[in-house]
Amino acid sequence: MRRILRNSSLFKDKSFIRLVALAAAGSGVAYGLGSDWSSRVSIQALPHYTFSPNSLFPSLAPSRYVNAPLSFSSVSSASEADVNKESPKPCCGCLGRDTIANAAARVGPAVVNLSVPKGFHGMTVGKSIGSGTIIDGDGTILTCAHVVVDFQGFTSSSKGKVDVTLQDGRSFEGTVVNADLHSDIAIVKINSKTPLPTAKLGSSSSLRPGDWVVALGCPLSLQNTITAGIVSCVDRKSSDLGLGGMRREYLQTDCAINAGNSGGPLVNIDGEVIGVNIMKVLAADGLSFSVPIDSVSKIIEHFKTKGRVVRPWLGLKMLDLNDMIVAQLKEKDVMFPDVTKGVLVPMVSPGSPAERAGFHPGDVVVEFEGKPVGSIKEVIEIMGDKVGKPINVVVKRAKNASVTLTVIPEEANPDM
Ligand SMILES: *[C@@H]1O[C@H](CO)[C@@H](O)[C@H](O)[C@H]1NC(C)=O
Ligand SMILES: *[C@@H]1O[C@H](CO)[C@@H](O)[C@H](O)[C@H]1NC(C)=O
Repeated sequence: MRRILRNSSLFKDKSFIRLVALAAAGSGVAYGLGSDWSSRVSIQALPHYTFSPNSLFPSLAPSRYVNAPLSFSSVSSASEADVNKESPKPCCGCLGRDTIANAAARVGPAVVNLSVPKGFHGMTVGKSIGSGTIIDGDGTILTCAHVVVDFQGFTSSSKGKVDVTLQDGRSFEGTVVNADLHSDIAIVKINSKTPLPTAKLGSSSSLRPGDWVVALGCPLSLQNTITAGIVSCVDRKSSDLGLGGMRREYLQTDCAINAGNSGGPLVNIDGEVIGVNIMKVLAADGLSFSVPIDSVSKIIEHFKTKGRVVRPWLGLKMLDLNDMIVAQLKEKDVMFPDVTKGVLVPMVSPGSPAERAGFHPGDVVVEFEGKPVGSIKEVIEIMGDKVGKPINVVVKRAKNASVTLTVIPEEANPDM
């Protein structure tokens, strides 16, 4: 411990804290206690290690609020049992005293803990630990890339072996079949002669800030750990977190997650997986991030059909327009086209498909593949994985001029 504390002086510099915090995706969360490489993790884990049951209780005891109308009115002498007897059964769709326990029970058996020995010049110097979810009875396990792929080597196609332990104690040797470092999603496969429990994938698009969520996993080797919280933000952008590379969006929650939770599921109160936990901000409490399951499903689809994630690249910077931005742009430039919705192109990369197609800085994309668009999200959605296929784009320019351009996306290097 003392060594760990001393090391924490390393983190006095603010920018370094931030960097390490976000690199949690890459290394912080990855390494368990007990290896020399774990000191960074321990700093992150330290405050969470001192929890007392009391400090956990309020957030994990929703029963308090379940029978809300009754419990609040009968604070007098009624015992809790009485209150429960009198209170109506929580309605379908309401949060009940068992809601979180039921959600956790539904997915729990399918949650696994993983470990990968970390080698250095042929020597084993520790292990990378994490969590995962069995999503198919054939032994397909969803987890995150930084747990199972050797980041030092940056090999995204590691066919490494992974040790897997199920909640019921069964253990397997799994194989990494796919890993995408950019999204930090990986698939590990185990073979079992006996049936495996599986978790159901839900949808992340209908989530709202404030929705209850439950995180399951094996933080700091504490198997079968459940923490609960709410969705704090449904679309936290990678750029907001200071992460480079292509744009990504994360679910932000206040669920406590720690080293070893990486790759584990974030589930809704129906017990459906709605995210994959991957990182947290180191120097803060309650800032945890998960890859939304809708993106994960697309990534899995790419893995199945192409063996890797193919991302189209146009070479455009894009900016969502809203009334305020349009008004400001009009104020600056009277020629700015009359648009109510669209996506502004502030910059076109030299030598990019967009430049070849004739995009100009200042263009406003209003139609993409025949569909009106009002946000970058919609553009990305429509673009899908159309690499090498021409796309017609309608842009508005000065004096309302409407121009149709044809652009052929190339495959992106996502870390650029
Ligand atoms: C999973 O966690 C348990 C409990 O800490 C541990 O005994 C087991 O070795 C872990 N499994 C793997 C594959 O790391
Ligand atoms: C642009 O079009 C809108 C209606 O679509 C019109 O009201 C406006 O005057 C036009 N602006 C210019 C500069 O032609």
